[in-house]
Amino acid sequence: MYLGLIVFASFFQYGQSFYLKKSAHLIVRQMRNDVFQHLSKLPVRFFDHHPAGKIVARVTNDTEAVRELYMTVLATFFSGIVYLTGIYIALFILDVRLALLTLVLIPLFYAWIQLYHRFAAGLNRRIRDKNADINAAMNENIHGMSIIQAFNQESSSQKQFEQFNDEHYRAQTKLLNLNSLTSHNLTFVLKNILFTGLIWTISGGGGGIFSIGVLYAFVDLVNRLFEPLSQMVSQLAKLEQARAAGQRVFELMDEQGEAPSDDTIIRPKGDVQFDSVHFSYEKEKRVLKDLTFQANAGQTIALVGHTGSGKSSIMNLLFRFYDPDEGTITIDGLNTKDMSAGALREHMGIVLQEPYLFTGTVAENISYGRPEATRDEVKRVVRLVGGETIIGPILDEPVTERGATLSSGERQLISFARALLVDPAILVLDEATSNVDTETEAHIQQGMNALKNGRTTFVIAHRLSTIIDADQILVLDRGQIVERGTHDDLLKRNGTYRRMYELQQGTDAS
Ligand SMILES: Nc1ncnc2c1ncn2[C@@H]1O[C@H](COP(=O)(O)OP(=O)(O)O)[C@@H](O)[C@H]1O
Ligand SMILES: [Mg+2]
Repeated sequence: MYLGLIVFASFFQYGQSFYLKKSAHLIVRQMRNDVFQHLSKLPVRFFDHHPAGKIVARVTNDTEAVRELYMTVLATFFSGIVYLTGIYIALFILDVRLALLTLVLIPLFYAWIQLYHRFAAGLNRRIRDKNADINAAMNENIHGMSIIQAFNQESSSQKQFEQFNDEHYRAQTKLLNLNSLTSHNLTFVLKNILFTGLIWTISGGGGGIFSIGVLYAFVDLVNRLFEPLSQMVSQLAKLEQARAAGQRVFELMDEQGEAPSDDTIIRPKGDVQFDSVHFSYEKEKRVLKDLTFQANAGQTIALVGHTGSGKSSIMNLLFRFYDPDEGTITIDGLNTKDMSAGALREHMGIVLQEPYLFTGTVAENISYGRPEATRDEVKRVVRLVGGETIIGPILDEPVTERGATLSSGERQLISFARALLVDPAILVLDEATSNVDTETEAHIQQGMNALKNGRTTFVIAHRLSTIIDADQILVLDRGQIVERGTHDDLLKRNGTYRRMYELQQGTDAS
């Protein structure tokens, strides 16, 4: 029978370790998917204040730490509690008074967990924090490697990294110290306190009442009692670690986000109206003040002004990356706040000064917004933006992260084609040609009319010569529109625009 039981138990052992670990892996897989999915729902504002590396740490390392919780900690605690209950029942059957004496262990054990939590929680949080710092530093370093090397700052970035690493190590050591002080030592001490209490009870109160047999059984049971206890105690460290890591993961999950909706809206005509819009990124600092303007469908609106005057911020509002503090933005008369941001963006295209490309081929990057586009459609938009000779031949070349292997002109043309392929009703070009050489710019300018055809286009440009044809030019200064009109109107006004224009003409002439 004993042999049978052992064979039987080994099956359960297998089941416990296999299925428990498998479900731990499943849980972590699900958790990671959830976190990743949640990230894309978060507003752009969130990413202003959270470095990429730190977020990566939460998605990869912190979820990993949570895995331990399911893998070993919960199993140990669960089987430990079952085991403890069994032993307590046996103790009570054996002798009620002695059993009551051992009950004292439970509050002690509980107090211990609490006490350990008090000391370890802070350390664990620090370890996770430093882990995130290390990730963030690494991420920043890799992305900025050329600048670091150009400025000969290898050793200073090394120093900063070492500092984070050092702090991580020190917190780890402190935690290690705490763990070594507590785990086995403490069970040992507790056990002996209990035995002392036992001897004291026997010798003082009523010696001779217990038979040797009862005492022997009792001592044996108490020894067994400490087995699950010390196992649980040895898992406390992992429990705490998982707690700290889990907290970070769930903080991220609790961030308010907007679920991407399947809503679609029919393609708007493209009438855009800003009505007394006020906006700030941070409470104190007003970035846009009382902005009112109207862009009719099909028009081209140019935004000019010094750097930092709020041009890009206006476009951020239009794309609903941020929402205005006051005032309304309407498209075809409908408040953009009442539309789903996803449905709205379906009909909007954007080209930024620093185009972002993804891993894949050039053609895949162009069809990013409409993966189902055919090869001919891709070729057509490439031709339209005037990039036939430049990116036509490299359509199948692989693009690595951010398109580091392409020139900025090539990247820019790809991003023009990408915006055009979705046939947006509203197109935003935010200093889109500032980074390209004049020759490429000329190419793009040629295609520009094709680009603007049938859509409302917002152009932000430094080179005023590129926006002369705009239907309306808005001149911004510190978040306010100071002048507006066509190129000719503005020249006649003899104001800011004229000064800017003449300054550029002067430089061009010289
Ligand atoms: N994400 C942001 N968080 C906080 N402040 C920002 C952010 N983006 C821009 N700003 C600030 O808002 C102001 C307007 O910036 P921006 O619209 O980018 O100017 P422009 O595009 O005209 O050069 C600047 O003072 C800038 O420092
Ligand atoms: Mg800008």
